[in-house]
Amino acid sequence: MPTSLIAMRRGAKDESYGPLIRRLLLRYALPAFAAIVMVAFVGVPYIDRMLADWFRSDAQLRANAVMASIEEPLSELLEQGDSGRLHAYLNRITSEARLLGAVICGPAGADIAHTSAVPGAVNCAQHGIEPDSDRFDVRAATGLAGIFAFALRAGDGPAYRLLLVHDLSYIDRRQTRARTFVLAALVVGLGALAVLAGIGFRLLLYRWLGLLLGDLRNRRFLDDAASSRSSAPVLARVRELLKELEERQRQEIEYQENWTQQALQRVVHDHLPDCSMLVVSNREPYMHNFDADGRIMVQLPASGMVTAVEPVMRACAGTWIAHGSGAADRQVVDESDRVRVPPEDPAYALRRVWLSEEEEQGHYYGFSNEGLWPLCHLAYVRPAFRERDWRAYVAVNRKFADAVAREAADRETVVLVQDFHFALLPRLIREHRVKATIALFWHIPWPNSETFGVCPWKKELLAHLLQADILGFHTLQHCRNFLETVDRYMECQIDHERMVVAIQGHECRVFAYPISIEWPPRWVGSTPPAPEARRRVGERLSIPRDVCLGLGVERWDFTKGIIERVQAIEFLMEQHAALRTRMTFLQIAAPSRSKLPAYRALQEQTLAEVERVNARFASGDWRPIVLIAKHHEPAEVFELYRAADFLLVNSLHDGMNLVAKEYVASRDDEDGVLILSSFAGASREMPEALIVNPYDIAETARAMVAAMEMGREERRQRMRLMRHTVAENNVYRWAGRMLMDIARTRRRRLLGSWRTTDAASETTVP
Ligand code: G6P
Repeated sequence: MPTSLIAMRRGAKDESYGPLIRRLLLRYALPAFAAIVMVAFVGVPYIDRMLADWFRSDAQLRANAVMASIEEPLSELLEQGDSGRLHAYLNRITSEARLLGAVICGPAGADIAHTSAVPGAVNCAQHGIEPDSDRFDVRAATGLAGIFAFALRAGDGPAYRLLLVHDLSYIDRRQTRARTFVLAALVVGLGALAVLAGIGFRLLLYRWLGLLLGDLRNRRFLDDAASSRSSAPVLARVRELLKELEERQRQEIEYQENWTQQALQRVVHDHLPDCSMLVVSNREPYMHNFDADGRIMVQLPASGMVTAVEPVMRACAGTWIAHGSGAADRQVVDESDRVRVPPEDPAYALRRVWLSEEEEQGHYYGFSNEGLWPLCHLAYVRPAFRERDWRAYVAVNRKFADAVAREAADRETVVLVQDFHFALLPRLIREHRVKATIALFWHIPWPNSETFGVCPWKKELLAHLLQADILGFHTLQHCRNFLETVDRYMECQIDHERMVVAIQGHECRVFAYPISIEWPPRWVGSTPPAPEARRRVGERLSIPRDVCLGLGVERWDFTKGIIERVQAIEFLMEQHAALRTRMTFLQIAAPSRSKLPAYRALQEQTLAEVERVNARFASGDWRPIVLIAKHHEPAEVFELYRAADFLLVNSLHDGMNLVAKEYVASRDDEDGVLILSSFAGASREMPEALIVNPYDIAETARAMVAAMEMGREERRQRMRLMRHTVAENNVYRWAGRMLMDIARTRRRRLLGSWRTTDAASETTVP
């Protein structure tokens, strides 16, 4: 039987009452019994002795008194030598009940005279001449008797001795009675004490239970002050335990329903103890730049990846390795190229990697953004693959793998690689023999196998990616596309049920982890309420209060459908003349990758289109589109979200789109309408948005009309459902699920495979 089963059975026996009863007997009953026996053995003889002494001295006093009253007449009678009168006198004085008899002994121990009834045990030969003692106990027919001896003088002659024999049998009787009484009192006393203790203990127990129930009902045990005030240390201990249990239970629930920063920390603490955490991405979470006056300022880049991963790093600590791309980045790092961030409340280290212009050109602009980005997004921009860009991509991936190896040293490490800039990293890290569990999350869509097939280095990319332990995508569809691609181009085994790819002895698990935002976003608290936000934005941009405000917020990227949006607004104005001067669309476009021709062309085309549409419908100060081509900090963006009547996200293709989720998170007034592209991953999670095909200009325009005409109750219902989804599926859940899978993979890896022994035995079988 396996040890665990034996242990289980032993455990089951231990749960019986036997040990408890044994403990109670040993701890309480036996000591009480021992106490009674001790009192009986030591106390009772002591009381016996005390009583005997007491009664004897009583008898002695009485004998002294008798002697004092008879000494003179006896001396005279002895002197006269009248034995007849002597006998008569003796018989007279012994008529007192307690006096059994009296004997007069001569100087040589001869019996001179005695009363008629003297116990046989009394004789002058023994007691009449005894020089040292004047008191003896003897056994008479009536019981215990005491002999009290006194010297008696008759004139100048030799001394006689008078023996007065006292009945002491009552001492025995009284002693027995006293002993019985003491024992009975002892038993009754102990019994009463036990009853009193029982009642007292019961009352105390009721009081404690009452206090505890009150604590439980009012959840007071969560409040430290209340607990420490407790007079009973046992109660304090119970409260402490309850607090621990409550905390554990809360976190268990949070694991499943309500993911928070603390729950995520708990996952790391419980499931990945002693593991250092490394995040690798191209874009850094904080950029240091110079402002117009040459002062160093911090900027949060516009990046969905940063929006999602940054709160996770705040929760888990560790090191984030990224390209130092800010103009003032080198000014703030220490000698190991590190700076603690966030600047206002440092929680983790940002380790910057420096790239030459040539490396950045080939890796970031070239292979990543002109090759992989258009390859993975179906936005009909042709990917460009150049040999020199590929070489730079490999070189930069190697550089980051070196940085990871240095950071990890020989510690157990979890490496979270972010995005398409680092597809080669999993294998390159393994080449360094780092003790790492590696997960790579692909933040953009994965195309179908045919589309991916145009990449000249598809096999290298796939082979390197598959050395990760976990590969994450936003949606199941992206996972399926990936597995189909692997199936088509690689020699490997795919377990479609478990979504695991086995290649060269390594297993890579492919899974969907829909990314999200922190909940609630930290800017929500400081953003003014919707009416105030609307007033401020209106004043700033000269948009009258009664004009309906539509909003678009994105990086200026060809995947976002910005041109299609302008066309939809034009269509709207054409079809609904009444909306002219009644609706303004505010477009925030953060310039991005502007060095690349496709992005510059998009910027030029957007400006021209906006100008054309505005010119067509402008009336007085009013224009249908307000385009602000500049990066906005999150606090400003959240104010815009609150001010807008609807948000339009009509990406042509988008991994997830976190702007849509941020908009929902900002609307704690349960107002506002979200129009969402069916080609954004977010549409899978939020069907309550008005879902549109971004290529269908008329449908997008109709959705805008529907958004403006929608009643308050319907807006509330839709927004409430979406808020529930985003709150539940927040970024802590995204990271938590991935980290738990990483922890499981790591434990499996540490266990090793049973097949190694099997293979060995196979070789020995003939
Ligand atoms: C997308 C990518 C991110 C990238 C972000 C901004 O969300 O998935 O990896 O950081 O765009 O792009 P940029 O090129 O400015 O980093």
